[in-house]
Amino acid sequence: MPHDRAAAWALLAEFTPSQPLRRHALSVEATMRELARSRGLSDPAEIETWGVVGLLHDFDYERFPTEADHVWRGMEILRERGWPEVVIRGVGAHAFYTGIERVTLMEKAILAADELSGFVSACALVRPSKKIADVPVESVLKRMKEKAFARSVDRSYIVRGAEEWGTPLPELVGLVLRAQVAIAARLGLEGAPAAELPDEPVPPVGQPVGQPPLSETLVLGRGYT
Ligand SMILES: [Fe+2]
Ligand SMILES: [Fe+2]
Repeated sequence: MPHDRAAAWALLAEFTPSQPLRRHALSVEATMRELARSRGLSDPAEIETWGVVGLLHDFDYERFPTEADHVWRGMEILRERGWPEVVIRGVGAHAFYTGIERVTLMEKAILAADELSGFVSACALVRPSKKIADVPVESVLKRMKEKAFARSVDRSYIVRGAEEWGTPLPELVGLVLRAQVAIAARLGLEGAPAAELPDEPVPPVGQPVGQPPLSETLVLGRGYT
């Protein structure tokens, strides 16, 4: 079995029955792909790898939620199952406590993507419309200063993520918002609750808003419709 997006979804589904965590994986994947494009990456295989790291970064979390296990067990399992080192390192780089240095652009991207993707979703869900498309960048920045709002999201990850990625925070927030809009319905961020994300079929990737890259659809569309 190739170590591609479909395999990543299958592994996620195997370890993660929880729907919110599956949605989080898709959300971080969408951000990773957008981050890749924002730095001029155009090779579909490379963009897919960035997305796969987003999909898999928390795949072990539901089963192994403690800092002693989460990430470590995931990396172990990925290694046992023959995933490429670039994916394993990418997954390992998403939490400070692993001490794994973020060297490559993709490793910096996962830190920039992870907490902020969750945070903008929380910002959408408190709006009357419950639509991510209605969330302005400024309101995300304002919410970040409210300690009581989305308490579980560690702001220091978001700030450091933007710093390491090298993009001013408002710009990064704008990019993350755009990435979520492309798959808003699947994330429950289009004004209605999300439909169940089953093990199969593999959910399709979101297309960049306003510019559907046809060739990429053809390449990445393999294995699912
Ligand atoms: Fe995590
Ligand atoms: Fe995460």
